[in-house]
Amino acid sequence: MRTRITELFGIQHPIVQGGMHFVGFAELASAVSNAGGLGIITGLTQRTPELLAAEIARCRDMTDKPFGVNLTFLPSFSEPPYAEYIQAIAEGGVTIVETAGRSPEQYMPALKQAGITVIHKCTSVRHALKAERIGCDAVSVDGFECGGHPGEDDVPNMILLPRAAEALSIPFVASGGMADARSLVAALALGAEGINMGTRFIATQEAPVHENVKQALLDADESDTRLIMRPLRNTERVLNNANVTRLLEIEREKGEDLTIDDVFDQVAGVYPKVMLHGEMDAGAWSCGMVVGLIHDIPTVDELIGRIMSEAEDLIDSRLVGMRTGAGRGRGAGAPGPVRWPAWGP
Ligand SMILES: Cc1cc2nc3c(=O)[nH]c(=O)nc-3n(C[C@H](O)[C@H](O)[C@H](O)COP(=O)(O)O)c2cc1C
Repeated sequence: MRTRITELFGIQHPIVQGGMHFVGFAELASAVSNAGGLGIITGLTQRTPELLAAEIARCRDMTDKPFGVNLTFLPSFSEPPYAEYIQAIAEGGVTIVETAGRSPEQYMPALKQAGITVIHKCTSVRHALKAERIGCDAVSVDGFECGGHPGEDDVPNMILLPRAAEALSIPFVASGGMADARSLVAALALGAEGINMGTRFIATQEAPVHENVKQALLDADESDTRLIMRPLRNTERVLNNANVTRLLEIEREKGEDLTIDDVFDQVAGVYPKVMLHGEMDAGAWSCGMVVGLIHDIPTVDELIGRIMSEAEDLIDSRLVGMRTGAGRGRGAGAPGPVRWPAWGP
């Protein structure tokens, strides 16, 4: 499949793996890139630019395909040394960066000077337009369904994606709620040129996280995520657990007086405990509503291969079949060429 996104990144399939704290290590990024998608190392999971350089080198040993690095611009008091991270990325020969969080405007000159293609992840059309204006090459449009930070506008992808298509000139991928061929075909129909997946990629063989995390994703359904830190305007969608329940109680008790210090225990230093040690109730960790669509733990290659082959079937058989009446749609009668198991009789 060729789209402006596959062309821009030089990849085979229009599937991107979003940066994920303590998940986006070289093992996952290289597996996604080797399967023809775009794998992304999470920059800030590496505590220093030197460690990021080493992780980039490790990834380079595992794949000769393009991969990227996520740089999340945090609303943080002690700002990470972003300029040095960018230097490590450039010196490591990485030519694709996924930015997220605050606007990357301040760092665009350095990124562009290093010849880096920038895809900025954002949660509203106005932020996507700003990204376009400041020279980003593409955007990842993150709907309200997404795992992580959906912003404060609460617009789901069914509306956000066609709005982005109306407004943007640069290509964009649909992010949030993407899991399978149905997501990809729907995203393409809504105007995106590919998909970005987070939560779905955690439930793969190669994701270097504790087995408890993968089991939790298998056990959960689409009603098991919660929105936390809304009163702080730093909303995060997370998987519910005992500590998230406690956090939401604190939010209710404190009301408008809530500060980050009140929920510090539930949100600080959680990721290594959950992802590396499998302490599932350690605190709040990002998870998308798409968890309801996760029923297995395939290899990354199986997952991407399945998405692409089922997407082709879906387009060529189900959709074309419905248009021409040749398919096995409801009331169509005779069995047609549709081979989409989930929608069989
Ligand atoms: C466990 C986890 C950690 C994440 N960490 C980051 C991060 O550090 N930086 C970032 O830009 N996005 C992060 N994200 C967001 C993803 O890159 C992606 O945008 C999001 O998961 C898409 O929604 P989905 O989970 O429905 O696929 C994280 C998501 C998850 C599930």
